[in-house]
Amino acid sequence: MQVAVDGIVKTLCGVPPLQFLPGEVCRRLQGVNLDPQSLAPYLLFAPRRYTRNLIYRNDLFELIALCWEPHTASPIHNHSGQLCWLSIQAGALRLENFHSLDGPGPGDGIRIVPKGAVERADAGIVDLQQGDDGIHRVGNPFETRAVSLHVYSRPYDSCLAYDPVTQSAREMRLAYHSIGGNLIGLSGRAEERQ
Ligand code: SIN
Repeated sequence: MQVAVDGIVKTLCGVPPLQFLPGEVCRRLQGVNLDPQSLAPYLLFAPRRYTRNLIYRNDLFELIALCWEPHTASPIHNHSGQLCWLSIQAGALRLENFHSLDGPGPGDGIRIVPKGAVERADAGIVDLQQGDDGIHRVGNPFETRAVSLHVYSRPYDSCLAYDPVTQSAREMRLAYHSIGGNLIGLSGRAEERQ
């Protein structure tokens, strides 16, 4: 089902707060294929990193387009106890899940172990992360760019990043690289729209 970005914003705004839950939002994201023209203003790619581009935010949820150059990945991270839905819109991503043997953290002595992965999730796949153990890493190990749409409820500006080598969990601030299609800046790096 091809939908304009405004259409998916309207759909999500139509979910009553008490029903903004895994099943309902998964249903609304399932099969959504965003109209490329309406998505284009939010597609900002940068070398060697993924970018976070805010489409819409209210008190209940935020909707973000993430743009993945080939061979980029997020840190291993959690979702601050919030719900996180991911819908792949273009290209493919690797989705790796982890489990903490020592609780969510933050702190030292936090051991995380792999808990399964989807080696190649193609456009159309919807994934959900929830709860303290919603620890994952999203990456694009492939040779083509990828775009994913993320819904976080409630919105959050920081989460925990896990380092399996030092066995630590530290707060990570989350920034946007563009808001409503307007560039915020990427620390002097070259920026490029798709
Ligand atoms: C991020 O929001 O920066 C990472 C992707 C995710 O966990 O959904």
